[in-house]
Amino acid sequence: MDARSLSNDPSAVVEADRAHIWHHLVQHKQFETLDPRIIVEGKGLRVWDINGKEHLDAVSGGVWTVNVGYGRESIANAVRDQILKMNFWGGSFGTVPSAQFAERLLEKMPGLDRVYYANSGSEANEKAFKMVRQISHKHHGGKKRKILYRDRDYHGGTIATMSAGGQQERNAMYGPFVPDFVMVPHCSEYRAQPELAGDNYGELAALEIEKVILREGPDTVGALCLEPITAGGGALTPPKGYWEKVQEICKKYDILLHIDEVVCGMGRTGTWFGYQQYGIQPDIVTMAKGVASGYAAISCCVTTNAVFEQFKDESDHLSYFRDISTFGGCTGGPAAALENLRILEDEDLLGNSARMGERLNANLLALQEKHKAIGWVRGKGLFAGAELVADRTTKEPLAEKLCAAIVGDCLKNGVVIGMTNRSIPGFNNTLLFAPPLIATAADVDEITTAVDNAMTRVLG
Ligand SMILES: Cc1ncc(COP(=O)(O)O)c(C=O)c1O
Repeated sequence: MDARSLSNDPSAVVEADRAHIWHHLVQHKQFETLDPRIIVEGKGLRVWDINGKEHLDAVSGGVWTVNVGYGRESIANAVRDQILKMNFWGGSFGTVPSAQFAERLLEKMPGLDRVYYANSGSEANEKAFKMVRQISHKHHGGKKRKILYRDRDYHGGTIATMSAGGQQERNAMYGPFVPDFVMVPHCSEYRAQPELAGDNYGELAALEIEKVILREGPDTVGALCLEPITAGGGALTPPKGYWEKVQEICKKYDILLHIDEVVCGMGRTGTWFGYQQYGIQPDIVTMAKGVASGYAAISCCVTTNAVFEQFKDESDHLSYFRDISTFGGCTGGPAAALENLRILEDEDLLGNSARMGERLNANLLALQEKHKAIGWVRGKGLFAGAELVADRTTKEPLAEKLCAAIVGDCLKNGVVIGMTNRSIPGFNNTLLFAPPLIATAADVDEITTAVDNAMTRVLG
């Protein structure tokens, strides 16, 4: 290793990255002519790249994670103090911050009782799937083991979570997948299935789930795993009446309702959890990104006592949940999560998300008046999507290249926004916005002004 490879000299770092890093979700061919982008510092919702260029971050660290913003000294101190005292113990023992965070978290989740710690959203979802399968083996002769998932939803990048993945472009070339995961139709009102379109689309879309349950046989279906708002699939807010009906259907057929809050959890939509926007009561909730805002790796699979109790018998030596996540025992995660939760509460960031989300929505609707390429604006709190079309009447999606050019123009001008990325074939046409929950009115206006200018430059 020569001295240059350990240098902080920007060009050396860029070259080390180009030579050694395999970036996530990126076609590397581009780095033959472009430099990989390296991010070095963040404060509030501003980040600086290695060339010193400032950006307003409207995507919370690219993947909707940094809910409380960058540079939080109190979280760094909480993690530092904790890991100096006791950094790790495998999860079969308890630790102080894991107990304390579980207690604080469950205060926000009436009706839920137990927290299982892991490291990533995918892993938390895998835990839930394993719970469902083991319940099936223990209590239903192995029969009630199917897990339903929804077209356009995403639950992670592992083979089992991709087996529950409704984004075909993410899944392509990684099969075959795990058996007994069954897809139900999406509920995107703007793209309503023609046979369901109408005033009661929400109820009809939910009844499509019931049809799948009846086709598969209710005694074979253990759980329904859904995002409260389909996130990466396009910030698809559910239609009116959808969730009430979904909950009713789950109860009717004794099917566990597993809500994936990996994106919507911890205030993103203006309530602690996305499901709380819709008055439903899940049996299992998984969460990750905003739990510690990316200051430490942590995810949680939270269950009711009714789920937990099914593993508490000593009928045989295999009857308990025989699962482990080594790094679920890192104490930095819950220490960071405790302080993250305090910040969300003390700074009323849920309220801010709701208020600024209204402003973001209003600004995007105003842009829709001006730019005919904006077909549908939707969102909840500081999580929003603007679906772009080539033609408002036919709703033909705007070409992905043009959508990417709008995102690229914003980036060039110092505002990082997102878009649906390798999700649904032909439908990578939604601009996505999820700034840290500390965003001010001026920040929100800066984001939408950048989009306005970019759309004018790219589309005329
Ligand atoms: C809804 C949802 N669930 C699960 C995951 C997977 O989380 P992770 O990347 O932490 O495994 C993601 C990631 O974007 C997600 O959006």
